Amino acid sequence: MSAKPVLHLGRYVARSWTPKDRKPLIEMVTNILASHGLQFQPDDGDQDALRVEEYYWGSGKGDLFVIEDVAKQEMVGCVGYYNSTAQRGERCADIRKMYLKPEARGKGIAQFMLTMIEEEIRRSGVKKVFIETSTTLDKACRLYERAGYTDASGENAMLDSRSDKLLTKTLN
Ligand SMILES: CC(C)(COP(=O)(O)OP(=O)(O)OC[C@H]1O[C@@H](n2cnc3c(N)ncnc32)[C@H](O)[C@@H]1OP(=O)(O)O)[C@@H](O)C(=O)NCCC(=O)NCCS
Repeated sequence: MSAKPVLHLGRYVARSWTPKDRKPLIEMVTNILASHGLQFQPDDGDQDALRVEEYYWGSGKGDLFVIEDVAKQEMVGCVGYYNSTAQRGERCADIRKMYLKPEARGKGIAQFMLTMIEEEIRRSGVKKVFIETSTTLDKACRLYERAGYTDASGENAMLDSRSDKLLTKTLN
């Protein structure tokens, strides 16, 4: 876990998650999912948002970042990754919790978040990346496909119950 801000993009900053972010992050994710007709899953795909320290903190595990509107001092997004080697049976990481509030979309911030998290994964010594997503999240699917992610449903199909699509990319 790194405590320093890693991204400044105009009025937005990416910084590591802290425990005071737990409640607003869960609320934000719940609201964004609801706007897509999807549910927050405390016992399945969203356990990592409740138990951040367990999933993301500790040597070789990963990190979770919050995107903040500095002017408003308000959380507008999040993104993270964790090492998923044990779950998937190959040396890899999963990108997790890619969410932006509607007011922060369409500015290229998500593209920046994706590049940032890929760099974090690279720095952790991992090249193979997976993302579980849903075909109903069309903007996210477009973002990932533009960044070179391809369908891996036949390759390593472990999915939470909300996801119907597995994407993968091998980082340079
Ligand atoms: C997925 C999500 C984070 C993507 O955010 P986003 O702002 O739509 O994505 P980007 O930052 O890539 O912005 C893309 C759009 O902004 C436009 N844009 C404007 N300025 C830009 C800039 N400076 N740089 C890049 N793109 C820019 C792009 O042309 C693009 O338009 P398009 O989608 O019509 O092609 C967001 O839509 C979201 O939170 N969705 C709901 C949750 C979700 O699906 N999460 C994924 C779970 S797996």
